[in-house]
Amino acid sequence: MISAYHPEDFMATVKNAFGITDITREFGSVKYMKEAQALIIRDLVKEYDLSNFLEIGFFHGKSSIYMGAILREIGKGHLLTIDLEGARKKSPNIIDLIDATGFADLITPVFAHRSYTWELAKLIRDGKRELFDFCYLDGGHTFDVTALGVMLVSALMKPGGILVSKILRELESFGTNYCLRLDLRRSEKFPNILGV
Ligand SMILES: C[S@@+](CC[C@H](N)C(=O)[O-])C[C@H]1O[C@@H](n2cnc3c(N)ncnc32)[C@H](O)[C@@H]1O
Repeated sequence: MISAYHPEDFMATVKNAFGITDITREFGSVKYMKEAQALIIRDLVKEYDLSNFLEIGFFHGKSSIYMGAILREIGKGHLLTIDLEGARKKSPNIIDLIDATGFADLITPVFAHRSYTWELAKLIRDGKRELFDFCYLDGGHTFDVTALGVMLVSALMKPGGILVSKILRELESFGTNYCLRLDLRRSEKFPNILGV
């Protein structure tokens, strides 16, 4: 018996196969995350069995789809990612990249009107706790936003969850020592894992 050919099934299969190297090939020129950084996150996710991701700051959504590829590879989990309303106007925007990769079942983008801090505060107000075991904090590069942001993220992390950020250096004068400091641009590999 000859089975019917359904082009939509074929396209769904192609999209589901989107891996880290496919993202680099198709969207290499899109800012910001690079493959080397995605691979560091993949190592971390596998080493610590992480699957419930939170991302602050998606910009075009490049880092988000890299994390989508990691979730697809490990076969479980979800990413909640937050940026400002203005990120809708990016070309491509995160909706385009999610559509192109077929990761709509893995990634939920939130466009905040004011700041990610309000979105996290709403979750806490609604009684949500221990939602995430991994957070990539890459938005709101000021001391005051980041200081509050880390407090709010901490309230939503599972015990032992891991926070990765390029901007935690801003908090060094704040004396925080309860989160992972990892500068992905310098590719320091997991120098200080203390958990949250
Ligand atoms: C460096 S970009 C993120 C890059 C992205 N993670 C990647 O690697 O592809 C920083 C993003 O943070 C967002 N951002 C800055 N302040 C924010 C805030 N208070 N709440 C939500 N997003 C914010 C900006 O709109 C910007 O898109």
